[in-house]
Amino acid sequence: MVNVQLLPWSEEDLPLLEKLMGDPEMTTYLGGPETPEQILKRHQRYLHLPETDHMFKIVWGPESEGAGSVGYWQINWRDQLVYETGWLILPAYQGKGIARKATEVAIASARQEHRHQFMHAFPSVENAPSNAICRKLGFSLIEVCQFEYPHGSGNFMQCNDWRLDLIEK
Ligand SMILES: CC(C)(COP(=O)(O)OP(=O)(O)OC[C@H]1O[C@@H](n2cnc3c(N)ncnc32)[C@H](O)[C@@H]1OP(=O)(O)O)[C@@H](O)C(=O)NCCC(=O)NCCS
Repeated sequence: MVNVQLLPWSEEDLPLLEKLMGDPEMTTYLGGPETPEQILKRHQRYLHLPETDHMFKIVWGPESEGAGSVGYWQINWRDQLVYETGWLILPAYQGKGIARKATEVAIASARQEHRHQFMHAFPSVENAPSNAICRKLGFSLIEVCQFEYPHGSGNFMQCNDWRLDLIEK
């Protein structure tokens, strides 16, 4: 069984974010690598999120290594307030089921909040592992849509709109 722990994003997590968002391969389906300035801005945002939004460092292994990030945050989608979720795992830790397990833990946390009925994920149609994670965690495929990533960037990708009902058990 994969053992992961989610820790709230902290000051010391900037180097992890640099590896996650500054790398061309890691960001193939996320609009490409961000500049150091954009990453620092993102880090500051993660440290001061509103109470509707959550970002975690994923910790894994006997040495409690920082393997990636997972989060969920409020968005307005099709005139409804919902959660969006997203995940990134460093190459050295991929293929071990860490993203799947970490997302499972994030879903359980969102369920406990009783804030929104639906959680969406918008992986690129070409992102096979992310689409597999959505399918295996019980999300339903709603449709293919044009999704802007990062929000406000003007960069639109063809994505799958996956939706999970947080109330239905
Ligand atoms: C997407 C990502 C987070 C997956 O992380 P991971 O920890 O390797 O994922 P997991 O090990 O939990 O594997 C997820 C599932 O995808 C499956 N999978 C992996 N590669 C696959 C492929 N090419 N085709 C189909 N399924 C694939 C795995 O078999 C696994 O299913 P299983 O649990 O039944 O074995 C990681 O590849 C990543 O960070 N990519 C770059 C950033 C990114 O694109 N983030 C997602 C934005 S939506």
